[in-house]
Amino acid sequence: MLDLVSLSRAWVVGGKTSNMDAGLLRNLVEANMTQEDDTNHEKLTDELLSNTFAFLMAGHETSAHSLSFAVAFLALYPEVQQKIYEEATRIWPDGCPTTASVSSYKEHMPKLEYTLATFQETIRMFPAAPRLTKIVHMDTTLTVHRFTTQGTGEIEAITPFTVPVRAGSLILLDTMAVHMNPIYWGHDAEEFNPERFLDTETYRWPRDAFFAFSSGPRSCIGQRFALTESVCTLTSLVRRYEISVPEHLTGKPFEEQKRILLKWRPRTTPTPLNCMVRLRRRAVN
Ligand code: HEM
Repeated sequence: MLDLVSLSRAWVVGGKTSNMDAGLLRNLVEANMTQEDDTNHEKLTDELLSNTFAFLMAGHETSAHSLSFAVAFLALYPEVQQKIYEEATRIWPDGCPTTASVSSYKEHMPKLEYTLATFQETIRMFPAAPRLTKIVHMDTTLTVHRFTTQGTGEIEAITPFTVPVRAGSLILLDTMAVHMNPIYWGHDAEEFNPERFLDTETYRWPRDAFFAFSSGPRSCIGQRFALTESVCTLTSLVRRYEISVPEHLTGKPFEEQKRILLKWRPRTTPTPLNCMVRLRRRAVN
């Protein structure tokens, strides 16, 4: 982050702003340099740094890693990819929208229901913030559930119990554990299945058990942006290309392909290590 900001600053000072694709960062750096009280241009203000942090970490890395996992899932699950392709083709029968053609959020986003479900299912399984920490403001008591599972994964013996929580405590919300909890997501919670994010007449997906974007007043301010850009990226990609597992993995058992492609490391956000796929241009674009 520091390197990027110094480089941008040097370009702005040297009049080389045309070198900078990142307009967001340029605007911040320029605004920061024109502050009257900022006589030392080398000094980074907290505001500039925290905004850069928001763009790079909160805004970019989260979405980028989530999309990498999503693309790996599409290679592993061609039937899911096919449904996204059909959804995109229904909306754009003549090919992907371009910057010149008109595509409207209001009109098209609600029709990309399955693509949205696929992305939500991806971040259910790979939430960018697998755990969140919060400070408790007032004494409270939480009701939680203990349960056991049979060999088949079916849940039994759900027993409620209470946990007193003191004001001032630091608590850890385990997003990943909630996302994998069979009480909310069923005995196949560990399976990738976008359908679980599609409401039907008899089923409503459990909103309270999904907090990839956290929840409440301090939840992600970029949630709608992230969902929209990810749906756009996935539909555009699948509309143009067929995604498959890389050549060196074809012929390997599915579970092994999955283990390799979805390998990740816990860094600032869960970081994919092997999301490599093969893209083949579709005949009709
Ligand atoms: C898949 C993509 C994303 C995921 C999974 C995600 C997830 C989250 C989560 C879990 C939080 C709460 C963090 C906490 O309580 O400690 C958060 C906060 C935040 N996110 Fe996102 N985010 C994503 C994309 C974005 C984008 C695209 C932006 C900006 C354009 C953004 C900006 C922010 C900001 C500024 C906060 C802090 C909000 C506050 O503290 O009031 N995020 N995000």
